[in-house]
Amino acid sequence: MSKERILIVDDEHLIRWSLSQPLVKSGYIVDTAESGNEAQSKMATFKPEMVLLDIRLPDANGLELLERFKAEVEDLIVIMITAYADVGSTVEAFKLGAEDYIGKPFNLEAVQQVISQAFKKKKLKENVEDFSHSLDQRIDEDHLIGNSPEMIDVFKIIKRCAETNDKTVMILGESGTGKELVAKAVHLYSQRSKDPFFEINCAAIPDHLLENELFGHEKGAYTDAGKRQKGIFELADGGTVFLDEIGDMPLPMQGKILKAIENKRYRRLGGYCDIDVNVRIIAATNRNLKKMVDDGRFRIDLYYRLNVMTINVPPLRERKADIPHLAKYFFDLFNKEYNRNIEDISPEAIELMLSYSWPGNVRELRNSVERAIILEDGRTLGPNNLNLFSSLEASPSTTDTITDQENRQVPDNDGRRQTTANNPDELQITLPTNGISFEKIEKNIILQALEKHAGNQTKAARYLQLSRDTLRYRMKKFGLL
Ligand SMILES: Nc1ncnc2c1ncn2[C@@H]1O[C@H](COP(=O)(O)OP(=O)(O)OP(=O)(O)O)[C@@H](O)[C@H]1O
Ligand SMILES: [Mg+2]
Repeated sequence: MSKERILIVDDEHLIRWSLSQPLVKSGYIVDTAESGNEAQSKMATFKPEMVLLDIRLPDANGLELLERFKAEVEDLIVIMITAYADVGSTVEAFKLGAEDYIGKPFNLEAVQQVISQAFKKKKLKENVEDFSHSLDQRIDEDHLIGNSPEMIDVFKIIKRCAETNDKTVMILGESGTGKELVAKAVHLYSQRSKDPFFEINCAAIPDHLLENELFGHEKGAYTDAGKRQKGIFELADGGTVFLDEIGDMPLPMQGKILKAIENKRYRRLGGYCDIDVNVRIIAATNRNLKKMVDDGRFRIDLYYRLNVMTINVPPLRERKADIPHLAKYFFDLFNKEYNRNIEDISPEAIELMLSYSWPGNVRELRNSVERAIILEDGRTLGPNNLNLFSSLEASPSTTDTITDQENRQVPDNDGRRQTTANNPDELQITLPTNGISFEKIEKNIILQALEKHAGNQTKAARYLQLSRDTLRYRMKKFGLL
């Protein structure tokens, strides 16, 4: 049950009574005031977090009170109580910092919704602020951000792996979850941190060059081998070798790596003598290695050899508590990088991010915030430029990747998406000269789409080219759910 404090200021007894009864029942602590004077003194004694404020009071102007209260208590939520005749003053109230308004006569359910949403929004905002204060709690200079229980477990395992110093570590997780950062963290926490960390992406290097990259070659080992070249194992001596995308390593190479790990020695290509290896191997993959072993595409002996210690990095949708924290981190990063002066992330944007499933994980979040920072025109980063509206939901894996990404819309490096939506520029709307409420248009469109499809949310969402979750999120926002 909530324990927030609400002050109701209205000169009509019936309104004070009919508002306070259900709010007390819902668990709020409620007090009332019938005049501006009384409200002023209750502000000091009752210390409300929210004020429901009549716009017309016998001894005071509601708008003046609003301005005064907001100046006194910075994060006070003020919701105006207005008669329909007062629409002009309502606009003024928003400018002065009112959160919302409720019109007389009011529908109690809608009032409850407005109140709970306002508190929710405030809490989200506070969360973002808290997170920004705790940004210093980074695990290392590579900024592995996260303080969800799931990530705290990951940090603990990272430290345990780091302490072992020699043991092979296997990092598993979907694409974009941060496996590379985890590998670097293991290295940085280990006694090897002063020695080099070398990374090789087994998927990016052609098969025939992989052995050369890893083990190096002697002069004349093959036609172009003009001089001796050290491989990564030798260059990383004393440090760590990170074999990224190990699931993509060809079978013959798997055998050679296994031998090098087991014997702690190897030979350069074309070489006659063995070289001792003093490196820790960390491997990572977003593939389902177990399945690859079953299919005969990954050596079972190497599988067991690498799996001495395993770190599972959970997908972002399973650690949503990290989302505001990561969003704030990338927000600060790109706001600075692109010289933008956007003040903050809006609570609505955070809420949308929390409702999204992030098939591309942290990488997608990073791209999405970067893109939004570039495109944002307002003072705060709103939900629209995050471009999450046409997203599809994540589904369990059916292929040998940990989660099948192939059929989803994942942004490319520039955060762009491929989309099958019609060109929105084809739609021409003539805007009235005196301005228009975007929210009202949006709500109206949603209502029409629902009406057109007899209230069927799935069909309405498809019609609007939104995911069902996004439609429901917006319906909730407008009190339609
Ligand atoms: N916890 C985190 N804190 C801060 N940044 C993160 C975090 N996790 C991931 N990132 C960022 O997200 C992006 C993707 O991370 P990374 O390359 O480590 O993912 P990955 O799991 O190796 O993905 P893939 O399997 O596609 O290689 C990087 O830009 C990285 O800096
Ligand atoms: Mg990676």
